[in-house]
Amino acid sequence: MIERIEKLLNEVDTWSAQDLKALEDLRVKYLSKKGEISQLFNDFRLVPGDQKRVVGQKLNELKNKAQQVLTDLKDQLDNQKQNNQNFDLSRSAYPHPLGTRHPLSIVRNEIIRIFSTLGFTIAEGPEIEDDWHVFSSLNFPPEHPARDMQDTFFIEKNPDLVLRTHTSSVQTRVMEKTSPPIRIICPGRVYRNEAISYRAHCFFHQIEALYVDKDVSYADLRQLLDYFCKEMFGEQTKIRLRPSYFPFTEPSAELDISCNICHGEGCPFCKYTGWVEILGCGMVDPNVLDNCGIDSSVYSGYALGMGIERITNLKYQVKDLRMFSENDLRFLEQFRAAY
Ligand code: DAH
Repeated sequence: MIERIEKLLNEVDTWSAQDLKALEDLRVKYLSKKGEISQLFNDFRLVPGDQKRVVGQKLNELKNKAQQVLTDLKDQLDNQKQNNQNFDLSRSAYPHPLGTRHPLSIVRNEIIRIFSTLGFTIAEGPEIEDDWHVFSSLNFPPEHPARDMQDTFFIEKNPDLVLRTHTSSVQTRVMEKTSPPIRIICPGRVYRNEAISYRAHCFFHQIEALYVDKDVSYADLRQLLDYFCKEMFGEQTKIRLRPSYFPFTEPSAELDISCNICHGEGCPFCKYTGWVEILGCGMVDPNVLDNCGIDSSVYSGYALGMGIERITNLKYQVKDLRMFSENDLRFLEQFRAAY
């Protein structure tokens, strides 16, 4: 008898229960009326008198231990259940939510994609530039108003250095180093001394494009613009070129597209004209080619420059330019893109 009790005492230590059913099975098997331990109590009658005290103590020890273990297992199961209830199984398994692309990046990448299908590669230049690359090489006369303190941020210690006011500076950097054919786009940030408001900022972004080769004509430029605008804004988009003036192109033009917000009917964005201006362009002025060591009697080229914020506004109708640089998640989270 005493061995059976000892054996069961050891077994009790190994009891475990996955769920309430398993727990109940244990109870029935050992502690119910016909359970093994209860059975031992029945057999207790047969224990000789002189052993009754020792065996009785052991038996009580077993019963108490078995009851204690069952209670402990029950507590464990209850705790588990509570913990499970605290789990939010609908939560994402990823600890960090995925970010979204900035709208300016989405549009910049789209412009780069369109131009790269035409063989344009990306070129970059510094944001702190010298006067030569921002102005002089680009045929700006010494007294040109764009050099004025109103527009340009000068570096105080060195008046020859400025924050570039346009990405056209990258054109000349590339032309100085490379011989034609040249086919590049230059995305980047530019700076102008403007009061910050919903429609102007002291920094914004541009993309410049430049193509220099033999026999590049205005018709090539027209063809490129038509292709670009249809890719960017949709097949139905119409374009129109208006004569304009830039020191570095001759002839120069500004490009309008049919307003893709009101589709020509007239809205505040196109000021009820049905057209919106999106970029400046023209044939590279021969002086600019010669300034950069490219023989203008052999080569010609076209160039264009556009503001990424402007194109983004047309695509997404962002009414306040400041939103692009405020990092407000409520704004940024509205943009999702594959790249
Ligand atoms: N640099 C001009 C600007 O910032 C844009 C521009 C106009 C670029 C005509 C060009 C161009 O390359 O040909 O307003």
